[in-house]
Amino acid sequence: MQWMQDELDRLKGEGQYRILTESVPSCEEGWVWRNGRRMLNLASNHYLGLGHRLDEAVLARWSAYADESVPGPGAGTNAGIRTGATASRLIVGGDPAIGRFEREFAAYKGTEACLVFGSGYMANVGIIGALVGRNDIVFSDKLNHASIVDGAVLSRAETVRYRNRDMNHLESLLRRAEPSKKKLIVTDSVFSMDGSLAPLSELVELKERYGAMLMVDEAHSGGVYGREGEGLAHALGLTGKVDVHMGTFSKAYGCYGAYAAGNKVVIDYLVNKARSLIFSTALPPMVVHAIRDQWGAVRRDGWRRERLLSQAEWLRTQLRSAGFDTGDSECHIVPVIVGGNERALAFGRRLQEEGVAAVPIRPPTVPEGSARIRFTPMATHRDDELRMALARIVSVGRELGVV
Ligand SMILES: Cc1ncc(COP(=O)(O)O)c(C=O)c1O
Repeated sequence: MQWMQDELDRLKGEGQYRILTESVPSCEEGWVWRNGRRMLNLASNHYLGLGHRLDEAVLARWSAYADESVPGPGAGTNAGIRTGATASRLIVGGDPAIGRFEREFAAYKGTEACLVFGSGYMANVGIIGALVGRNDIVFSDKLNHASIVDGAVLSRAETVRYRNRDMNHLESLLRRAEPSKKKLIVTDSVFSMDGSLAPLSELVELKERYGAMLMVDEAHSGGVYGREGEGLAHALGLTGKVDVHMGTFSKAYGCYGAYAAGNKVVIDYLVNKARSLIFSTALPPMVVHAIRDQWGAVRRDGWRRERLLSQAEWLRTQLRSAGFDTGDSECHIVPVIVGGNERALAFGRRLQEEGVAAVPIRPPTVPEGSARIRFTPMATHRDDELRMALARIVSVGRELGVV
């Protein structure tokens, strides 16, 4: 195993070594205990502040839904909340709550159908692996999430990466591609480490012009954009123009699991071809109840979306005027780009000592030389809490010569 130790030592030498930490959400909304220290949580993906805890009322709602889902003898009579699905959806793991939720969620997304996956990672590898194969081409934005990259690799299709949001570059690659090959364009709608938005309308134009399929990963825009949090494509009126909408319930929805949404034929195809769905146990029914419950809050609480976006706008403006490089950020994700790994590690460490949960993001998650701290305010953070965080970020930034 010496080779493993050598590689770990190399990672340490390059400031790329990772360790697991213990983080427990505090009883105070928007705070976290990390490695025994209490910090304002500016590092999570629970953008709307909807990481609910279980209480009697929540359990009663889940129970009622579980009861309604059970057909036949015993229907409506305390079926109970089941922890495990017992098998893949295609065997006996298809709890009725999943199918019901999928129909409700498809209506919300404005698509004909929807399919729940175990996680966003599983959804991406399953969907891409199903849509394209050995003789096809995937056109993938250079800043797409690792699960998209891995999906493209697993699909065995040729992958060409276009410069981030550069539609001229994408078009030149599409033009060069063999017309007979099946083509899939895939993009994050919000780039998770940059907080920039994909040019979805232009992507639709290109996909139509070159006869490609378009898949949009709404992991970071679901719950945040759209009147009821349907996502960015929906907010822009592009629902019917996107072939596959993908999203996760692990971020703004404050839960776990993911979905693909689209036309019936697409979803039917995924049921038959997506290996991460077919060969993996279905989500536990209790998680499906939790997703549905969280989704209800996401739809209802429009104030959370408004507040999140205005908090982030305030933070970005303040950081920029203090001299920080926030890159192309234009939404609720606000990075501060510092460059080298060691500098990002020092910045994160000092901020944590000052009570701000700020986690350094390093390559390969972001391009070499662009290590950063990714700040994500929550809708539930108070103004005075964000002012406190800003003052500490500025002070540590000056101390370390970042600004
Ligand atoms: C853009 C994007 N897609 C997919 C995923 C994977 O989602 P999940 O955490 O549900 O596996 C993430 C984040 O983890 C992401 O940022």
